[in-house]
Formats: sequence, C-alpha cells, structure tokens
Amino acid sequence: MKVRKAVIPVAGLGTRFLPASKAIPKEMLTIVDRPTIQYIVEEVVASGIEQIILITSAGKSAIENHFDYDSALDHALIEKGKTRLAEEMNHLSNLIDVVSVRQKKPMGLGHAIWMAREVVGNEPFAVLLGDDLVLSEQPCLKQMINLFNEVQESVVAVQRVPQKETCQYGIVEGTLQSKRVHKIERMVEKPAPGTTPSDMAIIGRYILQPDIFDILGTTTPGHGGEIQLTDALLALTHSRGMYAYEFEGTRFDAGDKLGYLKAIIAFALRHPDVCENFSDHLKEIAQTL
Ligand code: UTP
Repeated sequence: MKVRKAVIPVAGLGTRFLPASKAIPKEMLTIVDRPTIQYIVEEVVASGIEQIILITSAGKSAIENHFDYDSALDHALIEKGKTRLAEEMNHLSNLIDVVSVRQKKPMGLGHAIWMAREVVGNEPFAVLLGDDLVLSEQPCLKQMINLFNEVQESVVAVQRVPQKETCQYGIVEGTLQSKRVHKIERMVEKPAPGTTPSDMAIIGRYILQPDIFDILGTTTPGHGGEIQLTDALLALTHSRGMYAYEFEGTRFDAGDKLGYLKAIIAFALRHPDVCENFSDHLKEIAQTL
C-alpha cells in the first residue's frame, strides 16, 4: 500500500521553550524566514504525501492560519503591487490538503497519534513531529517511503548518538539487513548510558501500519500519566515487525533551545538571501572567541 497521509502532532505544551511558547506555538518560531512547521510541511509535500492531519490544541490556531488562505492579506498585497508576494502566500495556502483534529489535553505523543485514527483509517501513514527538522538532499520522509515501498512494514528513522545521550531517546536494537536498514528486535525508552549496546536513537519521523491505533487504544498511561508512543511501537514490533532506517541528513530538535539555535545557523548558511553575509559574520565572531 502507498503512504498518502501524514500526521503532525503539535498539541504539546512546549515547556522547554517557555516563555517564548506561552502565546506563540513553538512550531511557529522562525528559522530564518519561515516557521519551523513550514519546513516540515514542505518536506511532507516534497515526499509525495496527499493529506496532512494536524493534531492541535487550544492556542495553536496560528499554525492552521499559517496554511490557510487570507483574503484580506491577498487583496492588500495586490493593491500595493506586491504580486510576487501575493503569489507566494497563495502557494503556501495551496500546498496540501490540511485536516485538523483537536487533542483536548496533552496526554502524550501516543495519545496525540491515536486522535488521528478516524481520519487516517486502515492504511499506513507517516508521523512527523512538529518540532523535529531534518536538513537533507532527499527529504527524510521520502527516503523512508522508498524503504517502506520495499518492505511494506513500519519504519522509524534513527540516528547514531553518543552513549551519554541514550537517556534522551528511544533506542532500538536490531540486525543489519542492508545499508542503513536494521530489522528491529528490541526497543528501550531512554536507557541509562551503558545499559544498551545500541546507539541508534529514534527521531521524529515514523511510517506506521494502522495496527498501531488498536495498540494505542489499549495502552495504559506510562511515565507522567501520558500514553507513550514507544510502548506501542514495541508491541507493533512484536506483532508484525518494524525497520529502523539510518536516514541521510542532519536532524535538529527545534523544540529545544540549543537545537533551535543550531537549526537557525544551518538553514541560514543555505539560504540564498543571507548565506554569504551570514557566513562572513560567523567567521568574524569565531575569531573573537
Ligand atoms: P515533545 O515532548 O517534544 O513536545 O513532544 P512538548 O511536550 O510540546 O514539549 P516540552 O517537552 O514540554 O518542551 C513531541 C511532539 O509531540 C507533540 C508535541 O507538540 C511535539 O511536536 N505532542 C506531545 C502532542 O501533540 N501531544 C502531546 O500530548 C504531547
């Protein structure tokens, strides 16, 4: 089956980014000239997905508005003769079909994904975390879809992390099947350094078989009273198998202060309008350090 739908959960509280995220969703914070969430939606579109399901919450309407048509803005831009900008705004609102589903309480990532079950239905689907950015030649999701088309089983994107950082991620253990592809055997949530031989950490990109919804529906709340995705992923691994894919590219946790700053630098150094002057500026700063 083909992957046609992508779920993007953006209903979290964003506590790591307070106070910036108090009135503005963290997914709307800017990386050079567009919000984080726009890069993720552009990755989805470039990967051939047909529909996005945003899992939102109160206070996140700016995200929906960002991808909506704004007729007052359109008219104002045209009246001012700014037709190119008006076209750019229209392009943004026509990027892809977006459906929103409300998560009434932030009951965890697993619960947020479960909220998408009616709209996704009985087909494989992608999940992209609204604050995880990947800079790559070929979109990370497209790389994963290529693998899914071969194996027709769930795929999670992984990156190698230093042992001292395993405690921040879900870690997978498995056997190498082919270049960059591992068949998952075990999965451990946030293991203490040295307690797992693996350094393969799950990042915010998944392709899941719809069986995950039944599993999530019966998963009891874990750490912090939240329905954890990792517990359900482990059950899905046992029931029908799952692959870990070492994607090509660099991932940034833009929901974290340091990750966000690193993302701004990486994306600015590739932005045609600012890359040259910004690079000169960074070199000047580096000399003073
Ligand atoms: P995070 O834990 O990174 O995001 O969840 P958070 O909870 O918003 O942020 P902190 O940790 O308090 O700073 C990963 C993704 O899952 C979404 C978040 O919006 C984020 O994109 N999420 C998390 C939900 O949609 N609902 C939830 O109940 C929890």
